[in-house]
Amino acid sequence: NTMKYIIFNWKSYLNLKESINLSKIISRFKKSKKFKIISAPNNFFHLALSKNFKKNTYATQNFDLDGRGASTGSLDVSHLIENKIKYTIIGHSEMRSNHGETDKIVSNKLEASINNKLIPIVCIGESLNIYKSKKTKNYLRSQINTIFKRSQKYDQIILAYEPLWSIGTGLTPELSEIDDICKFLTKILEKYTFKKINILYGGSVNLSNISEILKLQFVNGVLVGSASTKSSFINYFK
Ligand code: 13P
Repeated sequence: NTMKYIIFNWKSYLNLKESINLSKIISRFKKSKKFKIISAPNNFFHLALSKNFKKNTYATQNFDLDGRGASTGSLDVSHLIENKIKYTIIGHSEMRSNHGETDKIVSNKLEASINNKLIPIVCIGESLNIYKSKKTKNYLRSQINTIFKRSQKYDQIILAYEPLWSIGTGLTPELSEIDDICKFLTKILEKYTFKKINILYGGSVNLSNISEILKLQFVNGVLVGSASTKSSFINYFK
């Protein structure tokens, strides 16, 4: 089995000191062939963290498309590049629900990120209603078709499948369902051109299910929210 991406999405859970403490733990891990650990701290803490932990890898939780200049409150791609950030989450469900990020915007952000050589972590996922009415695959297919372009040659992309009903709820699909969806995504992405594509699962990943999820054939890693703010969880990867 190849290396798994382990992405910690710290959302807005942590203050600077807590982010430093977790970064310290991660920085002491031996270089691993099994796991590639990427932390997504609060965007405001990036400079402090990347300066102190040069060997850690960080992602932003978002960036904006307003460009440089007169756009108060925005975080431009160029600011990420300037601070040597290599990865960025795009289309997280909380950006979608709290900030109106649509698949069309996600598609535009994807384009901006690849134009700037950022590695995007693109999030997709279905609502509970869609899941219950067994329309998950159709929904994910339409998300993919809106977000990705067939004319584009993509460099490296990370795609995170996060069922909305699983985020922060303690609920997850069955292991077999997760693998089946990731297999499905692998298949439908074949019509696009990628240098490298990794498909991750996210949603209520924790110490009790992590090892089983990482064993799944079509799952190349995990995107973890609240559990990733606990040192006990982080130490699993040492
Ligand atoms: P939880 O792990 O807290 O369910 O959050 C998942 C998530 O949104 C990661 O991006």
